[in-house]
Amino acid sequence: MTQHLTRGLLIAIEGIDGSGKTAQAQRLAEHLTNQGYEVMLTHEPTDSPYGRKIRSLAHSGRAALTADQELKLFMEDRKLHVANVIAPALEAKQIVVTDRYYFSTIAYQGARGLDPSAIQQANEAFAPRPDLVLYLNVSPETGLDRIRQARGEEPNLFERAEMLRDIRSIFASIDELFFVEIDAERNADDVFKDILSNVEYALSYVHIHQPA
Ligand code: TMP
Repeated sequence: MTQHLTRGLLIAIEGIDGSGKTAQAQRLAEHLTNQGYEVMLTHEPTDSPYGRKIRSLAHSGRAALTADQELKLFMEDRKLHVANVIAPALEAKQIVVTDRYYFSTIAYQGARGLDPSAIQQANEAFAPRPDLVLYLNVSPETGLDRIRQARGEEPNLFERAEMLRDIRSIFASIDELFFVEIDAERNADDVFKDILSNVEYALSYVHIHQPA
């Protein structure tokens, strides 16, 4: 049965590299779709020209960019993402599940020395505040181990342990009611259970109950 909502719901999944976000985002989207919800699963950086530039630089040594240049690329990419994907899906009362959102900019570009609260403000000028952020918390050591195992490759420049430590401490300092920290050191099933109970709680506010 198709499930209807009173409005769209925006869920972001965040965490350092190797935290398991992508797999959990996919699992969540699949679960909600099976329940009859209309789901838009998406990710950042996107496949826009800005996103493609970011990805190619990540492989060829992104340190070539200044923090401000990097910030600009992520912001331009997100503006397109909001305008073309997120806002229309919310307008259509869908559930948007995004694998990374502006909290990644706060944490990653914050770790390069930019002011986290200024980054948040600049993003919230155009990007809707989410209903729920699921922050998958793992240590840099766990994240890097998972990357080595999953990809069979050495982590790239952005994934070095010292950098991930700084990124993680900025994530940990984000103080918003919708920002929920989940212990992602545990196995994937336990992490998913926590994700689901938070999502079900958020859904209880917008779900339209239909007579059986
Ligand atoms: P991904 O590995 O999740 O696809 O993300 C690519 C890299 O981009 C990852 O190391 C995190 C980084 N990133 C930022 O530095 N700032 C941002 O705003 C976003 C969305 C990602």
